[in-house]
Order: sequence, then C-alpha cells, then structure tokens
Amino acid sequence: MSSATADLNATNSPQTLTAVRCSDLLAVIVGNCTLYNADCLDVLPKISGVQLTVTSPPYNQKLDQIKASGFKKEGNAQWANRISSSYADSMDETEYQDWQVRVLNAIHVASTDDASCFYNHKCRWREKVLLHPIDIVRRSLWQLRQEIIWARDGSLTQNAKMFPPSEERIYWLKKDSWRWNEDANRWMSVWRLDSSKMTDHPVAYPVEIPQRAIMATTAEGETVLDPFMGSGTTGLACMKLNRKFVGIEKDPKHFATAVSRLERENNQGVLL
Ligand SMILES: C[S@@+](CC[C@H](N)C(=O)[O-])C[C@H]1O[C@@H](n2cnc3c(N)ncnc32)[C@H](O)[C@@H]1O
Repeated sequence: MSSATADLNATNSPQTLTAVRCSDLLAVIVGNCTLYNADCLDVLPKISGVQLTVTSPPYNQKLDQIKASGFKKEGNAQWANRISSSYADSMDETEYQDWQVRVLNAIHVASTDDASCFYNHKCRWREKVLLHPIDIVRRSLWQLRQEIIWARDGSLTQNAKMFPPSEERIYWLKKDSWRWNEDANRWMSVWRLDSSKMTDHPVAYPVEIPQRAIMATTAEGETVLDPFMGSGTTGLACMKLNRKFVGIEKDPKHFATAVSRLERENNQGVLL
C-alpha cells in the first residue's frame, strides 16, 4: 500500500478504507470511486469501459523559473510558490507535449466506442510566443468536437504587456460516434464559472465543469475517469450524479486530499 494510503488509515477517518488489488495495482475504494495513487500512464493500460474522461493536466507552467517580482500582486507570487512546491510542473516543452499526447491516446484506448473526453488546458507563453493547447489535442487519436471557453473570475497574471488572460479552454474530444443528452442544451459554449474555492489544492477546477460534461454525455451508472485527479473534483461530481469514478493521482499529498474529500461526500450521502 502507498504511503498516502497508510497515512490515511492512521488518521481519524470515520470509516475504514477499503483497498483492493486491480491487476497488479492497489486501489482505494470510496463509495462508487476507485482511486489509484500512481502515475496515470501505469494505470491507463489496465482499465477499460470508460464512457467519459474529464481532466485538467499539469500545464507545464515552469513557475519555478518565474521571479516573484514578475507578478502584479504579492498574493500571486505566493500562489506561484505554493503550486511550484506542490508538484513538479516544469518539463522540457517538447517532452511535455509528447507526454500529453501519450496520455490522451491511452485514455482513447481505455474508452468505449462512443466515449467523450473533456480536456481542460490553457494558452501559455514561452519566449514571448503563444503555445496553444489545440496543438496537443490535434496530435492525439481523438476527434475535436468543440472548443468550450471557461471564462474565469480571474487568473494568474504576469506583467506581460498584454490583456491579462482570464479564460481557459475545455476541449470536447470524441470518437466516430458520441453521446449527447438534449438537457445539456441549456448551456452555451462559454462557461462563466468562478474558480474553485478549494484551498487544499492550488489549481482545483469548479465542480460544475465535470458536472456539465457528465450530464451532457453519460447515463447514470456509467464510468467516468480523471487521470489527473488532484483533489478529486471529478469524483465529487460523479458521487452527486450517481456515476462510477476512476481517479488517478501521483502525488501522495493530493491523493490523500481527494480520498478524504470523497469520503466526506460519501458519508454525507449515507447520512441523508
Ligand atoms: C491541474 S491538477 C488537477 C486538479 C483537479 N482537476 C482538481 O480539481 O483538483 C493536475 C494534477 O495532476 C497530478 N499529476 C501530475 N503528474 C501526474 C501523473 N503522471 N499521473 C497522475 N497524476 C499526475 C498533479 O499532482 C496534480 O494534482
């Protein structure tokens, strides 16, 4: 069992966690969620039947290379320090993009024939040149169905001589066939959502993002995946909407956050 799981068992968790062996991997079970404290590329080849993936990968922000003085507000510099110390988010950009394409392709293989994948990313700048996330998704096996704009209430802003970006992208990726639940027509392609107020993870997305994707493209009881689970926001949406969830998180600290967050939600459901 990983150190994160062992730590969790030692804390005052209200229920005993169940750990099961899936292939040669250990998973923690919380309600309808199967959670792996592992590298997603080690788990993805071992799973199948995924109807939907909703995920936000590390953005390769290279915050460790940005001087705090480059930020407009001291508060943002603290945020940068927090995120750069929370997981390594600094890779060679070519290696990073190749890795992201490999992950997207492994998700494609693990998914059903009419599955969707909602991939949250954003524009970044290197050497004054824009790196666009569409270049990553276009290299994968997936077909691009739609580009959704997540209009955030604010964002990390550097003094970069441009309009401070306050939007992110969500790529709806599909196979030859795909699902669409007509009820989802109530949402347009610009999603105005405040950023998450979760303080235990530096870059959690709001629960409405996975909720909308789940309601648009899946039915109750089907399986939803997040290979970069972070604090477990996608899992939380699955619990609320009665879907099965498979979550993968490499960092033991974030894995522990996700497990206790999902346990809390599961216990509330039991109490209701
Ligand atoms: C942008 S965050 C996801 C936040 C998540 N959407 C939430 O709401 O909390 C990306 C996460 O991917 C994790 N991660 C990075 N590399 C990974 C890998 N190879 N396999 C699994 N997780 C990884 C990081 O530790 C981080 O928690």
